[in-house]
Amino acid sequence: MEKKTFYITTPIYYPSDKLHIGHTYCTVATDAIARYKRMRGYEVMFLTGTDEHGQKIEEKAKAAGITPQQFVDRIVTGDKGVLDLWKLMNISNDRFIRTTDDYHVQSIQRIFKKMYEKGDIYKGAYKGKYCTPCESFWTESQLVNGRCPDCGREVHDAEEEAYFFRLSKYAKPVQELLESGTFLEPASRVNEMINNFIKPGLEDLCVSRTSFTWGVPVDFDPGHVVYVWVDALFNYCTALGLFNDKYHDFDKFWPADVHIVGKEIVRFHSIIWPAMLMSMELPLPKKVYGHGWLVIDGGKMSKSKGNVVDPYLLAGMFGVDALRFFLLRTFPFGSDGNFSNELLISTINTDLANDLGNLVSRTTAMVEKYFGGQLPAEQMSADPDSELEQLMADTAAAYAAEMDAFQLHLALEAVFRLIQRANKYIDETAPWALAKDESNKPRLAAVLYHLVEALRNALTMLTPFIPESCDKAFAQIGAEPADRTWEKAGRFGVLPRTVSVRKGETLFPRIDAAKAIAELEELERRAKGPQVKVEPVLPAVTIDEFAKNDMRVCKVLDCTAVKKSKKLLCFSLDDGSGTPRQILSGIHEFYEPETLIGKTVVAIVNLPPRKMMGLDSNGMLLSAVREVDGKEELHLLTLPDDVPAGSRLA
Ligand code: MSP
Repeated sequence: MEKKTFYITTPIYYPSDKLHIGHTYCTVATDAIARYKRMRGYEVMFLTGTDEHGQKIEEKAKAAGITPQQFVDRIVTGDKGVLDLWKLMNISNDRFIRTTDDYHVQSIQRIFKKMYEKGDIYKGAYKGKYCTPCESFWTESQLVNGRCPDCGREVHDAEEEAYFFRLSKYAKPVQELLESGTFLEPASRVNEMINNFIKPGLEDLCVSRTSFTWGVPVDFDPGHVVYVWVDALFNYCTALGLFNDKYHDFDKFWPADVHIVGKEIVRFHSIIWPAMLMSMELPLPKKVYGHGWLVIDGGKMSKSKGNVVDPYLLAGMFGVDALRFFLLRTFPFGSDGNFSNELLISTINTDLANDLGNLVSRTTAMVEKYFGGQLPAEQMSADPDSELEQLMADTAAAYAAEMDAFQLHLALEAVFRLIQRANKYIDETAPWALAKDESNKPRLAAVLYHLVEALRNALTMLTPFIPESCDKAFAQIGAEPADRTWEKAGRFGVLPRTVSVRKGETLFPRIDAAKAIAELEELERRAKGPQVKVEPVLPAVTIDEFAKNDMRVCKVLDCTAVKKSKKLLCFSLDDGSGTPRQILSGIHEFYEPETLIGKTVVAIVNLPPRKMMGLDSNGMLLSAVREVDGKEELHLLTLPDDVPAGSRLA
């Protein structure tokens, strides 16, 4: 019998900056679902990739002095680029598409032409509000406080000759699609789409641009490039071979079973995408799932805010599986979740180090200690521990239901109820007390066998989330690959009663939170580089006003620390007048006085005299000052020694 197929996608990423933990969240979630479906026996196609065209990329490449292709190559295939990140995070995608791949470009041209020939794309003139960073045109009514509703940045008036897609024609069938069944989930997003976008009236969509060139050229009208979202959305089909010879899986995998997307791009996936597919007379995807954002202090991560969290850094410190687990265990998949390092560490410590890690290490240690590593089948009592056995079955059922509904955090919650129950079972049965009496050995063996079986069940269900750690733990409890399958989950009595276990390395060492956070902050600080505060430019002065400052080159004749002052240095200066000038300067924390003698400095000499610590100061020395990482840095202004004393600065 042919296997059932399951086609799942993530959004293809903009390689305009390095990816952060928010992007990682989406891909790791999709990966866990894909692995689960494979475990359930599906032939899975898991697609991800990069969305490489558009004005933003063109502008960034220009600013970097390289071609757009070089720019995207760096971020996609370069060191610590997109491909490296997915490898690191153990992402099991079956295919990776780049929208600059030739086959995709060719397919997009054919798709565009087909919709044009059908009359669903027509030529017109576009007038509207355009958000450059989001590459989105907006109508006046969609703006929020006159700004882009997605990113909150300024929009500008834009007008150009352009092709339009007859989105309005598809308003009714799209609304029906949204309202019927479960095309878009979570359900709360349906009302959002209908109220915010469909009810105000769907306008035709501008689908070509002439103001830049980094895109798929419209082959029948040079000068136009295809709107990046048309180019991007069809990746889901071109990557299977629609209108190209690169792949031949379209009939096998289309329509997609689910597109996993972040909430801000639900609009594109649940309105524009089905409308274009209707136009192409292609089957519609079965589901779009709009997940929430990882936020920091309630706000979106963004490079401009400087609050993006680096997945390389976290995976390096805590391990890939710990990071994968944290992302999917902590935050309900459909809602926003507040990311913090503290939460990350406490989740690892509570669930992985304590609950799971302890269950593995206590179970294997006890089998080794009481039975030399192998349970004695012939001596094992047949006592049923029906509650724990039943829980294994119930957990598998609950887990499957939650996974099928993409409620990943609830699936994990079910598994951890089993793990916690098994830990409690250890306390209740007290194997160490049973071990004291030889006559209790059969019961002791039965207890330990229940624990090994509870672990086997839990590990099977955790495998899609933390595959490498589960492999290691399976090896410790003596579970062969054939014992790790879904068919064996939810059952008791799968492993041989003579199973051999081997205590191994600690899977998830406990993290010292204070130490780890200090280390992380230091690494983050170093990665960011010094944070220099740049003072805003002051209001303008006229040249005449500026010329009133009398700034002179002076030689330092003598320099001593002022008694009882921590800051002040007293300078005796040759200002060229023949009479030494005394100036006090609060720079002792930056310089030792003797190191300044003989230096050529600059002083403003027409300030009114001041008294400080009982001494006269006739002017001020000029320094360069800036704030780095919150601390003031000061450099006394010095000139080459051949500049004579008394020269004026002008
Ligand atoms: N290129 C488009 C997608 C085209 S799909 C046909 C795009 N790319 S993106 O790189 O900006 O975003 C990719 C995905 O990452 C989106 O689903 C987005 O929601 C997700 N995330 C980006 N930041 C995120 C968080 N802070 N939290 C969770 N997901 C986030 O959009």
